[in-house]
Amino acid sequence: MKALITGASSGIGKDMAKYLASLGYDLILVARRKSVLEELAKELETNVTIYDYDLTNMDNVYKLYEDTKAEKIDFLINNAGFGLFGTFVNTDLNRELEMIDLNVKSYHILTKLFLKDFVKRDYGHILNVCSSAGFMAGPRLSTYYATKNYITKLTMAINEELRQIKSKVKVSALCPGPVATEFNKVAKGTFAIKEASSKYVAKYGVDKVLKGKMIIVPTIKMQVALFFNRFLPYRIQLIIAYHIQKRKSTAE
Ligand SMILES: NC(=O)c1ccc[n+]([C@@H]2O[C@H](COP(=O)([O-])OP(=O)(O)OC[C@H]3O[C@@H](n4cnc5c(N)ncnc54)[C@H](OP(=O)(O)O)[C@@H]3O)[C@@H](O)[C@H]2O)c1
Repeated sequence: MKALITGASSGIGKDMAKYLASLGYDLILVARRKSVLEELAKELETNVTIYDYDLTNMDNVYKLYEDTKAEKIDFLINNAGFGLFGTFVNTDLNRELEMIDLNVKSYHILTKLFLKDFVKRDYGHILNVCSSAGFMAGPRLSTYYATKNYITKLTMAINEELRQIKSKVKVSALCPGPVATEFNKVAKGTFAIKEASSKYVAKYGVDKVLKGKMIIVPTIKMQVALFFNRFLPYRIQLIIAYHIQKRKSTAE
């Protein structure tokens, strides 16, 4: 068994690496901080290969596929991602375009390329680490929410296409609420809602993927919030989201 995890140097990706190694998976770990990945590899008892690729560069994304396609990967986890707090009129355009490259384009490309191989041989799991943000609009974190909407809805559509052709390949979306990781530091904000632990979310996500679940929301609080959010008018959803993000963020 072999898993490829992007964004494995921290947070959810790092905890997924530890959990999958405990299940006996060999690992291909990807992130920019090579030394952190090397430290992690020393802790793990299975075989680990490291790629210190910046996945905002699409050449690296294609290269990652070319470098690893011959491996018998049966679990792809697209996880590397980041957010940026602030109102859209003030946030940095280049940073947002990098976010779209990482959160959207790298997921899209790796999902497409590996899925073709997985479907041909009729096995494999793809887990796209999305977010509860994938079901909402997010004033003051707008581009991040939009990227997560893209990848959540893409994942759901592919899941149904695979189900219709009775494929054994499963594609799932992990949609947590706030999780304690390096996310806030990178996004320059703090969560108003209590965060789940990354270890819990990682284990919950992997276990549900292996059971073939399509949408995975790890905490009951978020499951309830997403359920009731569906019945609210858009304007009310937006006002609530705006005020939650405003309390979180010190950005303009
Ligand atoms: N934390 C939350 O509240 C939360 C909630 C829902 C969903 N999520 C999603 O969970 C995923 C993981 O985030 P996290 O919360 O675990 O945050 P994190 O601790 O900041 O981890 C992000 C990971 O992505 C990697 N990464 C960032 N930019 C990269 C780049 N350009 N190229 C390659 N790798 C890159 C980072 O490694 P390097 O810096 O070493 O490159 C790191 O390993 C993200 O997709 C995030 O949107 C997070």
